Amino acid sequence: MNDALVCEDVKVHFGGVKAVDGVSITVAPGSLCGLVGPNGSGKTTLLNAVTGLVPLTAGRITAHGEAVAGRTVPQIARRGVRRTFQAIRLLSTLSVVENVALGADDGRRLLDGLLRPGRSARADRVSRELARDALERVGLSGVGDRLPGELPYGHQRRVEIARALAARPRLLLLDEPVAGMSVEERREIADLLLELKAEGLTQLLVEHDLELVTRITDHLVVVDFGRVIADGNPDETVRNEDVREAYLGRRHDAAGPRSHGAVRAADSG
Ligand SMILES: Nc1ncnc2c1ncn2[C@@H]1O[C@H](COP(=O)(O)OP(=O)(O)OP(=O)(O)O)[C@@H](O)[C@H]1O
Ligand SMILES: [Mg+2]
Repeated sequence: MNDALVCEDVKVHFGGVKAVDGVSITVAPGSLCGLVGPNGSGKTTLLNAVTGLVPLTAGRITAHGEAVAGRTVPQIARRGVRRTFQAIRLLSTLSVVENVALGADDGRRLLDGLLRPGRSARADRVSRELARDALERVGLSGVGDRLPGELPYGHQRRVEIARALAARPRLLLLDEPVAGMSVEERREIADLLLELKAEGLTQLLVEHDLELVTRITDHLVVVDFGRVIADGNPDETVRNEDVREAYLGRRHDAAGPRSHGAVRAADSG
């Protein structure tokens, strides 16, 4: 079977900024892989490259054996690669179920339904059914008709995950899905990701909470300054000296923008 995701020597440069600078990562099918690193180390940029939001400067990316580079965002999404965003991106004037339905089939069916009522009623119904299934999957079956802004922050994060799940992806990329959540909310999302894994969904999880990441991932990749500095068993990887240095900030200003409270707290515990 092909690996779910293979990044080979991937580079994404923005002028002189080498956001991703030669990253190679392999995510095995069915695994839950963690991607961690200090602020600005290139994690989001790598997810952007995998999903087609930024072009590669160099390197190769394949998802389930198919080349990703040069394809558009919808083309990559249709190949079963979906993601959530670090900052929640929900449309405030659409209901929760409509927001999630946008994730099913890139929203084309729903938009058709909204723009040409009647003609695409069936397609609209399919999208909404997929959306309701996804909302149920993330534990939000009762809130589909509400507006996103009426939901507590932790539930909005779940709606984001539901939107990514609505098209029944094969590979889910999660960019800090528990950022800003309480300990209890984090534990619930961690349980959800483990359930999705048990159902066979491959996931790449970007997260700063090292305690959570080491608890639920099978495999951990650590990046710093756009390069992989450690890759392997999560428990062993976080004990790696380079990783501790990157996080404890010995090579950086510990009070500077690259430090991260949650990570330092986890590391010192
Ligand atoms: N579109 C862009 N244009 C120019 N520079 C960019 C762009 N996107 C990201 N960068 C820069 O690339 C570097 C990596 O940013 P990225 O957002 O990938 O980091 P990150 O690891 O996700 O950080 P965080 O943990 O804070 O989310 C940063 O220096 C950032 O300022
Ligand atoms: Mg980021």
